Order: sequence, then structure tokens, then C-alpha cells
Amino acid sequence: MEQQPGPSRGAAGTGRAAALLLIPVAVGLGVWFVGRGLTPDPESSLFGARYDDAMELKARLGTALLGLALVQLLLAARMYGLLPGSRPAPRAVSTVHRVTGLLAFLLSVPIAYQCLSAYGVELTSPRVAIHSITGCVLYGAFAAKVVVVRSHRFPGWTLPLVGGLLFCAIALLWYTAALWQLNGFRAPGLT
Ligand code: HEM
Repeated sequence: MEQQPGPSRGAAGTGRAAALLLIPVAVGLGVWFVGRGLTPDPESSLFGARYDDAMELKARLGTALLGLALVQLLLAARMYGLLPGSRPAPRAVSTVHRVTGLLAFLLSVPIAYQCLSAYGVELTSPRVAIHSITGCVLYGAFAAKVVVVRSHRFPGWTLPLVGGLLFCAIALLWYTAALWQLNGFRAPGLT
């Protein structure tokens, strides 16, 4: 059952909750070590697109991913009563939130897979390092979201915190690569 916004369930399960958070940490570190360890294959394709075409496609799919993340943010705001409308929010709002979240995850996987297989986790410039590290954080945050939604051991503020981290990771990935690509290899503050 999905955890509804609500008060903390007390300190009894604090140790167990902390142990559960090792799962997202392990996922993020797993992506890091896979990305640092593999031999990049620049010919790696994304739905048949390679090199510049793959970058362009990733930038467009990444923009669609950001769109889904914005929808998620609005749906979450509606569930938490931050937008006008009846309270509690209709059940359909959380159903759409779950479906859109799954779609966002599924959309991110081929993009991240192409990045990982073509480049790995690179630290060659501040922009590329921020992008690569944020990619690791993204999958840690996806795992954290699932852990927190499925468990009743976390205080009520944990879910919006993890959801916010997920949104920020997607926005930063988009800014450091998709915007950069679509804007002629320029983005404010990035070189
Ligand atoms: C595990 C996650 C990810 C890792 C490790 C990763 C890593 C990388 C690296 C190292 C590059 C090459 C940068 C360069 O040398 O110029 C790159 C490019 C790119 N990535 Fe990712 N990425 C990940 C996820 C994503 C996601 C989720 C998006 C969607 C927003 C994305 C969009 C792009 C785009 C559009 C490019 C081409 C533009 C560029 O070269 O920066 N990546 N990625």
C-alpha cells in the first residue's frame, strides 16, 4: 500500500528504516562502479541512433522525461493539498502519479543505458562530472522512492524529500546535458 502523507510513525523502527536506506545507497554506488569499471563503447546506439544522432535523441527524450517529472511534481502537490481542489485528493490522482512515475523510470532507462555504455561515468569536466554523478543519484533516488513508499517505517516528511530529490536529479541531468545539447553546447553557468 502506498504511504499517504501523514505524521511520523514513531522511533520504534528507526534502525530498520536506516537499514532500508542502505538499498538506495547501494543502487547509486552500483551505478557508479559499473560506470567507472566498464569500457566505453562510443558506437553504442539508442533505438538505432548513434553518435550525434544518439545525443540529439537523448536530449529530446530527456526533455520528455523532465515533462513527466513536472507532472509528478504537480500531482504530488495536489495530493499534499498545496493546490486548489477537494481534500483528500481523489484516488485517481495517486493512481496517475504512480503510472507517470513508472513511465518516467522506464523512459530514463534507455537514455541512461546509452550514456553508461557509450561513455561510462566520466569526470572529465565539471559539467560532465555533475551529469555523471547525478545519474548515479537518480537511480539511488528511484530506489529510495520505492523503499519509502512501500515501508511504513519512515516519518511523513521522507516521501516529499525523496520525491524532491528525484525531481532535482532529473532537472539537473536535463540541464547539464539535454539543454546543453539542444542549446548549441551552451547552458548558463556551464562550460
Ligand atoms: C546513469 C546515468 C547517467 C550517466 C552515468 C550519464 C553519463 C553521461 C556522460 C558521461 C555523457 C557524455 C558527456 C560528454 O562527454 O560530453 C552523457 C551525455 C548525455 N547524457 Fe547522460 N548520463 C546518465 C543519465 C542521463 C539521463 C537520465 C539523461 C536525460 C536527461 C541523460 C542525457 C544525456 C544527454 C542528452 C547527453 C549528450 C550531451 C552531452 O554530451 O552531455 N543522461 N551522459
